[in-house]
Amino acid sequence: MKGVLGTRGTPREAAPGRERWPLAEPFAIGGLQVPNRVVQAPLAGIANWAFRRQSRRHGAGLVVSEMVASHGVRHGNARTMGMLTVLDDEHPVGVQLFGADPEVMAEAARAVEAAGADLVDVNMGCPVPKVCRTGAGAALLGEPERAEAVVRAMVDAVRIPVTVKMRRGLTPATSRPAEMARRMEAAGAAAVCIHPRAAAEEYAGVADHAVTAEVAAAVGVPVIASGDVTGPASALAVVERTGCAAVAVGRGALGDPWAFRAIATGQAAAPPDLAEVVAEVRAFAADVVAVMGEDRACHYMRRFHAWYLAGRDLPPGRIEALQTAPTLAEALALLDELAAAPAAA
Ligand SMILES: Cc1cc2nc3c(=O)[nH]c(=O)nc-3n(C[C@H](O)[C@H](O)[C@H](O)COP(=O)(O)O)c2cc1C
Repeated sequence: MKGVLGTRGTPREAAPGRERWPLAEPFAIGGLQVPNRVVQAPLAGIANWAFRRQSRRHGAGLVVSEMVASHGVRHGNARTMGMLTVLDDEHPVGVQLFGADPEVMAEAARAVEAAGADLVDVNMGCPVPKVCRTGAGAALLGEPERAEAVVRAMVDAVRIPVTVKMRRGLTPATSRPAEMARRMEAAGAAAVCIHPRAAAEEYAGVADHAVTAEVAAAVGVPVIASGDVTGPASALAVVERTGCAAVAVGRGALGDPWAFRAIATGQAAAPPDLAEVVAEVRAFAADVVAVMGEDRACHYMRRFHAWYLAGRDLPPGRIEALQTAPTLAEALALLDELAAAPAAA
């Protein structure tokens, strides 16, 4: 996806300096206790267990997987089943499913519960045609009865909380986010996460959190606000504007896992130096290799090199060299060189 980072590379947000920081408070999703109000947003192709574990280590109160195909679970597809892996040190963790068939989604939810996840989330936001053509993702927003049936079937199938992550609607003009959220609550959803852009808007413009406020006022279950939260100031502004229970952070934490603790505590630390960044990338990359093997890890890490180094004053060509290094070991060696002598490298 082009331009994933949006505003990254701009100076870090200052901490608003509050005595009592609302995002540090625990909250509950159904029977699940979440230690703070910062959620790592689900990110397709990114939020595997290596990424989630790193997010938890850096202070996210709850982490959520990349979206997982319910039909892949039904067919026991090896790669899909691998996505259900949950590690001991990432709890509380949710696994997000996509699909439009209530029976298949219920069966996949049982597999998610059996894998040890603490909640199962339903994707009602993915705008990608390949997903929407099957009636899944954001397409469910255009079929509220089906969406409700999916959630009900899942709620009946598992004991862990079932949550919904939705966009405001298919298009701004046809959006009925409060009505949809109420339906989801009535179907048994234990929380609603809202990304207040319409599917047709993809990632354009800014997230309109007036919509989040409307949703938060409409339901009794916790509402999680997703969209353009990148630091303590934007997180606090969204909480105060919307009355949401928590915020989700997606792009703002790509290459900046330190953002989770800053938002969860209200205290923005100084940006890490290059040596710290390289140590972080190395630890993360070791887990990524364990998830997907050396070759795929080399490709997966390419985007992260650029994300971790965004906004840094580096000699020309360094990021390109990292992204074209033929092996992960070579990329990491280049990073080490950078950390040893950033100006000369
Ligand atoms: C690369 C990428 C992958 C995403 N994958 C998912 C996904 O699998 N499931 C989902 O519900 N949302 C997904 N989203 C949406 C994010 O969870 C989030 O709602 C959105 O990016 C807005 O939040 P942000 O401004 O903090 O990034 C994805 C977003 C991006 C940029």
